[in-house]
Amino acid sequence: MPSVSSRANRGWWDGNADDYQVEHGDFLRDTGFVWCPEGVDEDEAGLLGEVRGRRVLEVGCGAAQCARWLVTRGAQVAAFDLSHRQLRHARRIDLDTGVRVPVVQADAEALPFADACFDLACSAFGALPFVADPLAVLREVRRVLRPGGRFVFSVSHPIRWAFPDDPGPRGLTSDRSYFDRSPYVERDDDGTLTYVEHHRTMGDWVGLVVASGLSLTGLLEPEWPQGHERVWGGWSPLRGRHLPGTAIFSVNLA
Ligand SMILES: C[S@@+](CC[C@H](N)C(=O)[O-])C[C@H]1O[C@@H](n2cnc3c(N)ncnc32)[C@H](O)[C@@H]1O
Repeated sequence: MPSVSSRANRGWWDGNADDYQVEHGDFLRDTGFVWCPEGVDEDEAGLLGEVRGRRVLEVGCGAAQCARWLVTRGAQVAAFDLSHRQLRHARRIDLDTGVRVPVVQADAEALPFADACFDLACSAFGALPFVADPLAVLREVRRVLRPGGRFVFSVSHPIRWAFPDDPGPRGLTSDRSYFDRSPYVERDDDGTLTYVEHHRTMGDWVGLVVASGLSLTGLLEPEWPQGHERVWGGWSPLRGRHLPGTAIFSVNLA
């Protein structure tokens, strides 16, 4: 059974996928691999290492831009997302670019893949910020990775939760506790949950990785690049000069 968070988020992403792709598609690029609003590009970052000939899974792929980059670099790729509408955009871009990504609709808390069938897994803000049970996701990714495999995932930097989600000066003054794990939720007029994002502290993330049986091998806190003026929600050059916006975890399966 999908969790309450997954049910709400599936509806939200189905309803908002069109606007999301209009707003962010150019920045993400149809065959690009952008890890975060700071613009960290896998072409330069190389966080996944060599991908040619590797079997790679993209978790919460949206329109599968990252997966398509992987295909162009010679990887064997599968990708999945909770939202059917996001996957329709994946298919649209496949047809536009001629670079096809096999995708499946699935919830990251229960993966429809066999044990030990991928060498690498990746996720650029896909699924993990939205799920109620991130340990289930990490355990599922661990299950489908072969020994020696690696998972790299980006999420909102935990410190952001202590500040208003505002790209301007208001976003620079903390107004809540970093230790308050209450999720951010939106509801419709009937009180039904329509969107959920979950907060974990940095210590929570490390604990989850350890509990899943994976080993933390790297943590990147990208700095806002000089001359990068693009605002994405609460991410902006102003805030980026003061606060980290993204955390990118690299974890391995021994
Ligand atoms: C911010 S988008 C990131 C997608 C893509 N990497 C990008 O940069 O556009 C988050 C994605 O996570 C997906 N998602 C949310 N919860 C999920 C879940 N439980 N399982 C799988 N995907 C999920 C959403 O449908 C959405 O496409």
